[in-house]
Amino acid sequence: MTCRDRIIAPSLFAADFSRLREEVTRASRAGADWMHLDVMDGHFVDNISFGPPLVRSIRQATTLFLDVHLMISRPDHYLPRFVAAGADLITVHVEARHDVAETLRRTREAGCQAGLALNPATPFNAALPFLDQLDLLLCMTVVPGFGGQAFMPDVLDKIEAAAAARAARGLAYHIEVDGGIDAVTAARCAAAGANVMVAGSTTFCAKDMALAITQLRNA
Ligand code: DX5
Ligand code: ZN
Repeated sequence: MTCRDRIIAPSLFAADFSRLREEVTRASRAGADWMHLDVMDGHFVDNISFGPPLVRSIRQATTLFLDVHLMISRPDHYLPRFVAAGADLITVHVEARHDVAETLRRTREAGCQAGLALNPATPFNAALPFLDQLDLLLCMTVVPGFGGQAFMPDVLDKIEAAAAARAARGLAYHIEVDGGIDAVTAARCAAAGANVMVAGSTTFCAKDMALAITQLRNA
């Protein structure tokens, strides 16, 4: 899939944790392109989700592309465990405490795709030194840590800047948005240049997940 393809990535964080295999299968049958896995360490963000053992179990349960979003303070330290667990793409935050270029380099060297995430308050400039190392740039559209928050429209300018820089430099990274994404906000993000739509509540909590995914795809 290229940065011209619309990719729908349901966030497992909004699934029923007591029956994860069924939830992954449900998302897959409903038309999910990727499975987005939100890893939270209770330190980088004010919440705790899951770690490498669960990523490994999901790997065994599906052939879907695993898009692993590390909201953790030391992504460099834990990177090898998420690689070994079977991640296809690993996104680290630019705000975390690590040598960002080195972490991205090691991610690709390990055979994974490399993503970089920016919190809503972090300017696009923070990503500039790393653009040619990226398979994906994640523009957070909420302050990370919790599902079900309201989309922050100020981030649209950053998405436009990310798309403009990509064109200017002849690069091909995906632009992903995460937080408060529904059919309305997905359309706004797509118009600004985003192509990967992460959605938790609007997919797993929908009455009809297939319809919800179709709406995100066509928005
Ligand atoms: C936010 C997470 C998101 C979150 C999205 O900290 O990174 O992936 O689960 O949830 P919704 O789609 O409900 O805003
Ligand atoms: Zn996420």
